[in-house]
Amino acid sequence: MAGIAFGGDYNPEQWPREVQEEDVRLMREAGVTMVSLGIFAWALLEPAEGRYEFGWLDEVVDRLHAAGIAVNLGTPTAAPPPWFSLKHPDSRPVTREGRRVGTGGREHACSSHPAFRHATAELVSRLAQRYGDHPAVVMWHVHNEYGAPLGECYCEASVAAFREWLKVRYATLDALNHAWGTTFWGQHYGDWAEIDAPRWSHTVVNPAQRLDYARFANDEHRGHYLLQKELLTGKPVTTNFAGTVNCKSMDLWTWAGDVDVIANDHYLDAERPDNHIHLAMSADLSRSLAGGGPWLLMEHSTGAVNWQRWGVAKRPGEMRRNSLAHVARGSDAVMFFQWRASRFGAEKFHSAMVPHAGTDSALWRDVVRLGAEVGRLAEVAGSRVSAEVAIVWDWESYWALELDWRPSTELRFLERVEAYYAALWREHVTVDFVHPSADISGYRLVVAPSAYLLTEGSAKNLQRYVEDGGSLVVSYFSGIVNEHDTIHPGAYPGVLREVLGLSVEEFHPLRDDETVALGRPDGVGRIWSERVRPAGARTVQSFATGPDAGHAAVTRHNLGAGVAWYIATAPDDLRELLAEIVVRAGVTRPGELPDALEMVERGPYVFLINHADAAAPVPGVVGADLISGAPFTGEVPAGGVCVVRTP
Ligand code: GAL
Repeated sequence: MAGIAFGGDYNPEQWPREVQEEDVRLMREAGVTMVSLGIFAWALLEPAEGRYEFGWLDEVVDRLHAAGIAVNLGTPTAAPPPWFSLKHPDSRPVTREGRRVGTGGREHACSSHPAFRHATAELVSRLAQRYGDHPAVVMWHVHNEYGAPLGECYCEASVAAFREWLKVRYATLDALNHAWGTTFWGQHYGDWAEIDAPRWSHTVVNPAQRLDYARFANDEHRGHYLLQKELLTGKPVTTNFAGTVNCKSMDLWTWAGDVDVIANDHYLDAERPDNHIHLAMSADLSRSLAGGGPWLLMEHSTGAVNWQRWGVAKRPGEMRRNSLAHVARGSDAVMFFQWRASRFGAEKFHSAMVPHAGTDSALWRDVVRLGAEVGRLAEVAGSRVSAEVAIVWDWESYWALELDWRPSTELRFLERVEAYYAALWREHVTVDFVHPSADISGYRLVVAPSAYLLTEGSAKNLQRYVEDGGSLVVSYFSGIVNEHDTIHPGAYPGVLREVLGLSVEEFHPLRDDETVALGRPDGVGRIWSERVRPAGARTVQSFATGPDAGHAAVTRHNLGAGVAWYIATAPDDLRELLAEIVVRAGVTRPGELPDALEMVERGPYVFLINHADAAAPVPGVVGADLISGAPFTGEVPAGGVCVVRTP
């Protein structure tokens, strides 16, 4: 497809023919170029086992094609039909607590279950045969949001598959016993059959076993995806990620190579005043999974969602800012859930492109306007965003850190990553996300905010980066354990001692509301304090109060041609500290900009998104504004967006 795709999930099966016909007329009015179709339509495509009814879908696909609208065709495996669940009651997933999931919703089949895999293959091979060559179909949309809402399944089929997975990973029980540290609490295994899933128990279950179960569950969902991908030849295949930042259960680095294009769903968290920063983070992580290239925003909302505490409608201009911020950060699509608001079912209070109020509404007018603007951005498609700063992001570390019985329950992966990301966002610095083992040599600055689990290999990668001239920032409780959640030998932070030039003797986690003063005016630290013992590193800031008063809180270590910083608490003024580090690392930054002005360069295009209620001056940017069609005036209107093509 040329240009930036515009459209949404389309569920015509909920509507009579007249409405379906009106849909296509309205789609043209709004500039819709692509819809995602059939995502939950299994029961309508195969109403009884082996009885297929494709006629209605043929008609919809043909009608869309006649109107020049491309189809992103779903495989409806996220909604197994009632006949399937009745015939295979044991295909319904079991939670860690041992509750079997009921029917009547969606996502109620286990990805490992042989009957589910068989039924999936039967249906998907028919879809491939029937629609694979249809000129309207440009892409396959497999399943829906793997891993959400249920990442891990604890059914019998899963446990059997887990044992096989372990045999491949460890080959021998000796290797498994060693990796899992089963001498602790006498958990030694003498037979593969003795191994169970790490079910809920009244005390803490072996953390290495839990980590492996998380990896296994991720692989099982991927297996179900790959089974379909093999059948869907001829067109690009993807699956929509359940929000790159929010989908904890899937290690999306492992998925990135299996999809032909990264597709992400993103929903604002209505409770957060900084949700536009969270949006940017999700988009940047999507682009990073895409290796810096374009990706697709497969779902977001025109307004309120119906699954949060408050279904907050977007403020005027907010949908537009949201959509274009995704494009700024590399998306070649602006897609919504969903096209037309449902009248019945679980999501009837969810916003849509065609609201219940109909076309005589501000929302519809905004959708039409946005469609036209997205059309004007066609030349942006395919261009790349490049960043000089990277944040280390590792799902395995995310999983491991948030298992039970850590030194503090306030140690949360996202909390620290978001703190660093937000500080950089406010400094107008664009960041990529990287796996700790990735090639990071091209970045001027790499930040590892919450790298609790860090393999020896990854730690060496970070060290080499510094020795070769890079600037590294590491935050507390990083480099503590290996891939089996086993503590690295010697003092903390085992594998990072050398690069940071220090060791940590004791942790002093802070209680709620407890703070420590830092040795710079008004400096405050929260969540964490610890006894740092520099061994080569220089103290930049010290703790002025609290259990580590008089000892280092922030250090800097020159190593080889580079420098490694360590931050041993959660400072309130992280932004100030990072601003200094960014400057020292030689990161290119725009001149003075208002705080709430988001500026991202994508190829020759400068996206300027003003999140404030006042106009924002942006000196130094010259060129044509693709949105207004006129030369950029040097000012972004209150709440407005400009996309400037620079010479
Ligand atoms: C997504 C899901 C969609 C729809 C949407 C509502 O997670 O993929 O099908 O439910 O949420 O916000």
